[in-house]
Amino acid sequence: MSEQKQLFKVTIDNVTIDVEPGTSILMAARRIGGDITPPAMCFYSKLKGSGGKCRTCLVEVAAGSTADPRPMPKLVASCRTNVMDGMIVKNITSDKVIEARKAVVEFLLLNHPLDCPICDQAGECHLQDLSYEHGSEGTRYEFERRLFEREDIGPYIQLHMTRCILCYRCTYVADQLTDSRVHGILDRGEHAEISTYISKAISNDFSGNMIDVCPVGALTDKTFRFKNRVWFLKPLNAHRDCDKCCGKVTLWNRGDEVFRVTARKDEWGEVESLPDGKTAWICNTCRFDKKQTGDWIVEEPRKINRHSVISANHYEGMKKPKEIFQAVHDGRNPKLLFNIHTVSEVNKPEVHLSEIEGPATSEVFE
Ligand code: SF4
Ligand code: FES
Repeated sequence: MSEQKQLFKVTIDNVTIDVEPGTSILMAARRIGGDITPPAMCFYSKLKGSGGKCRTCLVEVAAGSTADPRPMPKLVASCRTNVMDGMIVKNITSDKVIEARKAVVEFLLLNHPLDCPICDQAGECHLQDLSYEHGSEGTRYEFERRLFEREDIGPYIQLHMTRCILCYRCTYVADQLTDSRVHGILDRGEHAEISTYISKAISNDFSGNMIDVCPVGALTDKTFRFKNRVWFLKPLNAHRDCDKCCGKVTLWNRGDEVFRVTARKDEWGEVESLPDGKTAWICNTCRFDKKQTGDWIVEEPRKINRHSVISANHYEGMKKPKEIFQAVHDGRNPKLLFNIHTVSEVNKPEVHLSEIEGPATSEVFE
């Protein structure tokens, strides 16, 4: 007899769901979706050990569990706290969380330059979105921001340390996806910075994925920098046979020109999962060397969340009604529903507008 798996009931912002034991509050909230889901700047579900660094995902636990319904004394990082049976969590329904999140955004922006107008990440920067949605108008910081020189870390990646929020995602990519990690976080506190060991180049096959996981514009694609704004490009799903990776990518085109190639990202901004459960990381050959549309089999335009600035002028997300007229008018062709010939003496009744080829011109009516 198959054993029924015991599930935990958790209520987040008054919505209750059942999840498997061991699920974090953040992942439970993602199952519900929408505004209930706390933002996450350092957690990345596809990278082991990520999370717990940025505190943007803080939530209030109003009741710990059915067995021990006491509230937790402090706000907790939802990416690092697992649900318990009967737990009650408050995210956007908690004033404390809203207030704390504002402070976290202010903290993340302490040293971050306000260079969105010239930053390649603009339009798809999680920090930009976070500060719009959760930030406060001003900062109380009165000291000089820390500054770093731009650093080339290998042939394809440029590091702008001034924009880094020390989320550690790129180091996890290097640890978990590439053969050898040559970069990491050096020093502590105010002096902490991402760097390579004696400016060594990062050049292993999957290093480009660091660009995809970086939530801000700290790691940018040197082959794309300053070439175009993302909202002028048209994202297309495409694939090719690749012997190193899954070969499933998003092409960012303008006309037929491929400006950049990225992995495909899901609604949480993370690289998508493949049907076999693996993550669709892409190799550097696909990302940096295949910049011709002919290198790819183009599948379809990529659906972009309509709240994103990238969706400007893209209408793929909008659904055209399926022959709604025919459906509600017993299958009659909508063109013939209203016969202009019977009500107008201007046109010739023998000319059926719906049957002529191309637009009607004066020749049709002599
Ligand atoms: S460079 Fe980007 S991915 Fe790496 S720690 Fe900084 S913000 Fe995170
Ligand atoms: S996403 Fe939870 S601490 Fe950063």
